[in-house]
Amino acid sequence: MSRIVNLGVLVSGSGSNLQSIIDRVETGSLPAAIRIVVSNNPAAFALERARKHGIPATVIAHEGFANREDYDRRLVETLNAHGVELVVLAGFMRVLSPFFLRAFPMRVMNIHPALLPSFPGTHGQRKAFDYGVKFSGCTVHFADEGVDTGPVIIQAVVPVYDADTEETLSQRILREEHRIYPQAIRLYAEGKLRVEGRKVRVLDHPQPDGSPRHNPPVTDF
Ligand code: GRF
Repeated sequence: MSRIVNLGVLVSGSGSNLQSIIDRVETGSLPAAIRIVVSNNPAAFALERARKHGIPATVIAHEGFANREDYDRRLVETLNAHGVELVVLAGFMRVLSPFFLRAFPMRVMNIHPALLPSFPGTHGQRKAFDYGVKFSGCTVHFADEGVDTGPVIIQAVVPVYDADTEETLSQRILREEHRIYPQAIRLYAEGKLRVEGRKVRVLDHPQPDGSPRHNPPVTDF
């Protein structure tokens, strides 16, 4: 049996990943409660999504803070004041300080729109598209002090087609983001994630099917 995990979701933009989490909380398929949504960007559409669903949402803009640690201190205070256990980064466009990460050790998740460790940083979809890879995807990982470097929890792979544009590839990746982020949170809530060094072991969960995938397909000859 899983318990209800109290989430704090940090956002900066559209909040479609936030929406995918809200939807699964509301249907009861994700044993979590979103206690607070925090945006560094007052114009983030994610704030409206939260408010529409009756979730407390607040803006902490970076203006007015002398340095990153002061900003992060305010973030930690806000999350703690709402009883947050797991911090979910959902398109939050700031790098978190070691101070913040120490406050939530292995309790900060991030989603990245590429198959890490390839194409970290901003514009992961564009970097993969421009590189010409035949598969890309997305990754949910625990955050550590690097940029997109922490232990990997779950990944989804999507093909890149010749006819793709950066936009069509990004949409294909985003659809999978909306599936793997709630899944990662659910595994956490169920106590099924064991972090062992760089590796995250997933307990009591089906194995992936072992069939390899090729792009372009390997034909009989
Ligand atoms: C996603 O592509 C996510 O992988 C990246 O930022 C984007 C956020 O999208 N970290 P949204 O705000 O959840 O719609």
